[in-house]
Amino acid sequence: MTVVLITGCSCGFGLEAALAFARSGAHVVASMRDLGRGAALAGAAQAEALEIHIAALDLAKPHTFAGVVADVIGRHGRLDVLVNNAGINRVGAFEDTTEATLREVMEVNLFGPLLLAKAVLPQMRRQCGGCIINLSSLSGVAGLPGDVSYTASKFALEGATEALRHEVDRWGIRVALVEAGLHATNIFADALSGPLPIPDESPYRPLIEERMAKLAARLPEAFHPRSVGELLVRIAQAKDGPLRWPADAVAKRVLGKLFALDDAGRDAFLREVAGCDWWSQGESQPENGEAAP
Ligand SMILES: NC(=O)c1ccc[n+]([C@@H]2O[C@H](COP(=O)([O-])OP(=O)(O)OC[C@H]3O[C@@H](n4cnc5c(N)ncnc54)[C@H](OP(=O)(O)O)[C@@H]3O)[C@@H](O)[C@H]2O)c1
Repeated sequence: MTVVLITGCSCGFGLEAALAFARSGAHVVASMRDLGRGAALAGAAQAEALEIHIAALDLAKPHTFAGVVADVIGRHGRLDVLVNNAGINRVGAFEDTTEATLREVMEVNLFGPLLLAKAVLPQMRRQCGGCIINLSSLSGVAGLPGDVSYTASKFALEGATEALRHEVDRWGIRVALVEAGLHATNIFADALSGPLPIPDESPYRPLIEERMAKLAARLPEAFHPRSVGELLVRIAQAKDGPLRWPADAVAKRVLGKLFALDDAGRDAFLREVAGCDWWSQGESQPENGEAAP
């Protein structure tokens, strides 16, 4: 039976993925950083009589990964699929982003997933088979203002995944990325629920406020995360497939467009998507009203 380890299963895509893999008949180890947040998954699994093992795993604590992986292998004798799902987003202008926040985002979205992949690879090589799926984002292929730390982490994850793919395919290990557009999970809802993290003196306040207002306006159109859980099962079951798997119609359209454009076309497209020409034009005005040297 297929054995699957998933990160970030307290809510969102991770919770849906745990249920979808369990429905497909897999042994699921659904990990989360805080076991106290396991009630939603445990309740949903119980309602469908699905067996899901919940384990603790904090992506910011890589020294614990070997133990978690050894436990999965000890329980089930193998490990077939790793879904590197958990992630965080810290919205804000780059200049307002603290070093601690930048490092936190890179720890959780990049180093954690990469080091966890490193921890499962020896077993997958021994088995001569496995699948590692990394949750990326359209922010892994396109950068928009207000999103520098998240975009940096997802671009880096994309590059690492693309490079890793050809190192491990000789052992029958497949590596894939999922590109998601906007889905109704906590990641953006949380960002919008509290006060915006903008320092009082920030010169970027109008830009970030406008970006967040646009995001809030788009939330009602967000896709349901259940389809991502089902997509992850299809990717794991596929014999082969592309590196990038769009998770929804918007992601498919944007990916198709971005990869067909040259640099100038890409720049124009992203300007249109960001809709912040008003900001760029204002930014060229010096704050004291004098012409720039
Ligand atoms: N939703 C979207 O529209 C969208 C779009 C593109 C990409 N994505 C990507 O999809 C993935 C899942 O996000 P989501 O939308 O499902 O968001 P979510 O509902 O906020 O879920 C994120 C999960 O990550 C967990 N997490 C956060 N920090 C962690 C850490 N240090 N160690 C382990 N787990 C941690 C959270 O745990 P807690 O409950 O303890 O916080 C939660 O379970 C992320 O990689 C995200 O970048 C989402």
